[in-house]
Amino acid sequence: MTTPPRKLRSSAWFDNPDNIDMTALYLERYLNFGLSLEELQSGRPIIGIAQTGSDLSPCNRHHLVLAERVREGIREAGGIVLEFPVHPIQETGKRPTAGLDRNLAYLGLVEVLYGYPLDAVVLTIGCDKTTPAALMAAATVNIPAIALSVGPMLNGWHKGERTGSGTIVWKARQLLAAGEIDDAEFIRLVASSAPSTGYCNTMGTATTMNSLCEALGMSLPASAAIPAPYRDRQECAYRTGKRIVEMVAEDLKPSDILTKHAFHNAIRVNSAIGGSTNAPIHLSAIARHIGVDLPLKDWETEGHKVPLLVNLQPAGEYLGEDYYRAGGVPAVVNQLMGQGLIHEDALTVNGKTMGDNCRGVAIEDEKVIHPFDKPLVVDAGFIVLSGNLFDAAVMKTSVIGLEFRERYLSNPDDLDAFEGPAVVFDGPEDYHHRIDDPATGITAETLLFMRGAGPIGYPGAAEVVNMRPPAYLITEGIHALPCIGDGRQSGTSGSPSILNASPEAAAMGGLALLKTGDRVRIDLNKGTADVLISDAELAQRRADLIAAGGYRYPASQTPWQEIQRAVVGQMNTGAILEGAEKYQRIAQT
Ligand code: FES
Ligand code: MG
Repeated sequence: MTTPPRKLRSSAWFDNPDNIDMTALYLERYLNFGLSLEELQSGRPIIGIAQTGSDLSPCNRHHLVLAERVREGIREAGGIVLEFPVHPIQETGKRPTAGLDRNLAYLGLVEVLYGYPLDAVVLTIGCDKTTPAALMAAATVNIPAIALSVGPMLNGWHKGERTGSGTIVWKARQLLAAGEIDDAEFIRLVASSAPSTGYCNTMGTATTMNSLCEALGMSLPASAAIPAPYRDRQECAYRTGKRIVEMVAEDLKPSDILTKHAFHNAIRVNSAIGGSTNAPIHLSAIARHIGVDLPLKDWETEGHKVPLLVNLQPAGEYLGEDYYRAGGVPAVVNQLMGQGLIHEDALTVNGKTMGDNCRGVAIEDEKVIHPFDKPLVVDAGFIVLSGNLFDAAVMKTSVIGLEFRERYLSNPDDLDAFEGPAVVFDGPEDYHHRIDDPATGITAETLLFMRGAGPIGYPGAAEVVNMRPPAYLITEGIHALPCIGDGRQSGTSGSPSILNASPEAAAMGGLALLKTGDRVRIDLNKGTADVLISDAELAQRRADLIAAGGYRYPASQTPWQEIQRAVVGQMNTGAILEGAEKYQRIAQT
């Protein structure tokens, strides 16, 4: 057992001679399920397990099993366990969008971590928004915290080919739209990608955020990529439980780990793994809650020149099990370290630095993780665009495919400018109604716009910007049109979209003024996106729209939608609850 260096936070509840009335009251109810006075007044740290698994969140459900090994680790190291539920966030199951629930789970977790007798917490992470919600709350409260990933599903297979969760859906939808498969085959194909417990086995937002959590130093080294059903995952759960007890003794808190260096490491790792465009939103949010200045532009200045090394779908061909066998995050970090691209001094939850954890970790399979000098794509990070349509939006350049490069870029090896007429959709329902209707007027030259899909317009921001072309173009061999919008895009989609445009139309950003038929010019070298009409015309359109009552979006359906809409910020600054930022490190003693 480790001896804590100072009075534990939980002693204010359970062992406070100055307030014996309340101490008795707190004690009696926590004793009622069999804990003993001997334990609660032993000076042993009380460790929360923030349980994100449930039947409603299947991606994280395996945490219900893993928590048993976490408990054993905590107990063995001398801690007492109090496990509690976190508001579920299921990426694919929550209507209208799981994006709405990240800030809600954050709020709930902050209240629990702050308001209950916890000295530290194990954050069980996995499905897309569970990871940022947990890290955001740990940043705000700032008690010792360690994250445990649930791990990806096993690889999906269909007719001898790997089928990746999420990614296969985009492909299957195209096959269905083109009449190449029927409804039953569509469902079989999609279901084949999810053969076991765990989160998406592609480099979607889940694998991205779990990898970045490790790159930030908030989970044990080499832990992010372990597939959920592997025995190594159980062992990792046990080690995580043991380690959090030591962290209390060391008073190692999120603020010691989540430094600017840690965030810049994560941005570079994101480029090398081909991470999701949701990552800038979530890292901005975590940074703001811990008080680190991380402008969106850092994604381009720190991350764009980093090559893509990890060959996972959607940018590449492999899946989660392959990523783990090839060496996972430490093998990637070691490649970047060799080029001086990692701040090796960044501290991690195991008490060692990122450099010490990853130095010399070899790649075990160079088809899956490429060495730095043989990248899949050079300059694979995001670029940040701005113009009269929005102040900021991101584009994942590593997924710009050959078809797209040949059609839009005069030199397929270089990113340059293209322009075309806009077709504008107001929200995903409008898109679904009109996409295949020839009257919508979409041609091979069209740029597709999605608006009304941001944090306010479609509360939480919908993952809908990656729009497929109409069926009549797909049958002609056109599989992608440029997509631009104020919503998000699933990390499992390989579309070369311009996303997260801020401010959104619902906040009267420039997208609100765009009309179908306007010509729009995108210059990827200059980082600009502009509608080619005069400032005077734009000003007139703005005045007209304001006079008409502003950009219209659907009414809220629940109380939380209304509350979130009133206080949420834009995606370029993390889409956090704007009033929450000032509450930093609230449990720090
Ligand atoms: Fe949960 Fe992909 S839907 S991880
Ligand atoms: Mg997603």
